[in-house]
Amino acid sequence: MGHHFRYRNKEMFCEGVRLSDIVKEVGSPVYIYSKRTLLEAYTEFDTAFANVDHLVCFAMKANSSLSVVSLLAKAGAGIDCNSGGEIFRALKAGAHPSKIIFTGVGKTEEEIRFALQYDILMFKVESRSELRAIDRIAGEMGKKAPVGIRINPNVDPKTHPYIATGLAEDKFGIDQSMAFESFGLAASLPNLRVVGLDMHIGSQIVDVDPFVQAATKMAVLALELKKAGFNIEHLDIGGGMAIPYKVEKPASPKDLADAISSILNVTDCKILFEPGRFLVGNAGVLVTKVLYTKKHKNKNFLIVDAAMNDLIRPSLYDAYHKIRAVELKKVETMVADIVGPVCESGDFFAHNRTINKCKQNDLLAIMSAGAYGFTMSSNYNARLRVPEVLVDGNKFYVVRDRETYDDLIRGERIPEELVK
Ligand code: LLP
Repeated sequence: MGHHFRYRNKEMFCEGVRLSDIVKEVGSPVYIYSKRTLLEAYTEFDTAFANVDHLVCFAMKANSSLSVVSLLAKAGAGIDCNSGGEIFRALKAGAHPSKIIFTGVGKTEEEIRFALQYDILMFKVESRSELRAIDRIAGEMGKKAPVGIRINPNVDPKTHPYIATGLAEDKFGIDQSMAFESFGLAASLPNLRVVGLDMHIGSQIVDVDPFVQAATKMAVLALELKKAGFNIEHLDIGGGMAIPYKVEKPASPKDLADAISSILNVTDCKILFEPGRFLVGNAGVLVTKVLYTKKHKNKNFLIVDAAMNDLIRPSLYDAYHKIRAVELKKVETMVADIVGPVCESGDFFAHNRTINKCKQNDLLAIMSAGAYGFTMSSNYNARLRVPEVLVDGNKFYVVRDRETYDDLIRGERIPEELVK
């Protein structure tokens, strides 16, 4: 899997556009996405499974930019949504309800009502009490809700514990021993229509082994459920495919397809996939400017204008992101901590990183920031959320403006009585 952020004459381009030209127009920090990279990733995934009846549903929690979702939807992707807000955004981006699936361990009554207004493909249900809630709400609305049940396959995805979801101790899904009972309950409720079986074991999974183990368990279960008379049209095997952040060599969609297609095909189900990171991770960078440089004893610091509120992955998961100079002015390197302006020691992008020597006002590109970058950003320290730019060949579009100070206080008030 490649990407289209490359140096030409020592300057980093996204496709045909100089990153520094984008910064001249919109300032820094800024998220920059490459249309070509994300569409190529989608095509790579989709074609790898050409021999399987399937739908790739983009897990938009990774990147919910309307333009990104719209491009993927237009390319044929379905959308995996984890909240009412994501369904709202998916619809605004032009996704067709019949290709929307609704995930989530804690869907609220309002969210269920909202989703039921549209004929979505499937609610993925994670508990028996949720089955009852959806049945009741659907009944009140005179609807029949299509449901799949998420089973926890108890497989170790061998990833960061915060993003492992398929072990028995995790909060997700229903224990496999309760599968028949849960499908029985679903089939008995008048306002539900059982349509599928679902799993998701975790994220940034580098090897195919955990997928093979989990897909095998689910395929066996799907066949048993079918034999027992349940209507299992869809088998959803979740997302989780890794991308290279550092030196990892993750399995490719082709490796995954070679390993699991025959297992999946035995089920005769339509297979749903929910990749998030794989489709967008390497299609985005966060460009930031060096505000100040300083030295404490022997340690160099580059203080940049982006911070943990813009990209929290290093602080939260100790995640590694490559950091590249946007203009390769110097061949000498330096070792530095690259840190943001937020008042916490946890506000860093890299520790002791070897990087091309840089100085005040130089631009750095934090690579592989297209997934779980902007979507996990916040206004911590009352910092403005940064703009998002999408590059298409030689053109670029500001697809989301930088926030303003007024955006920061939208919806807030100081009751007069409170302060009189
Ligand atoms: N489906 C379900 C039910 C999920 O919970 C997730 C991710 C996905 C699909 C997509 O997984 P992916 O293909 O992107 O690995 N913020 C973390 C990742 C959290 C993943 C949560 N669930 C990070 O920055 O690494």
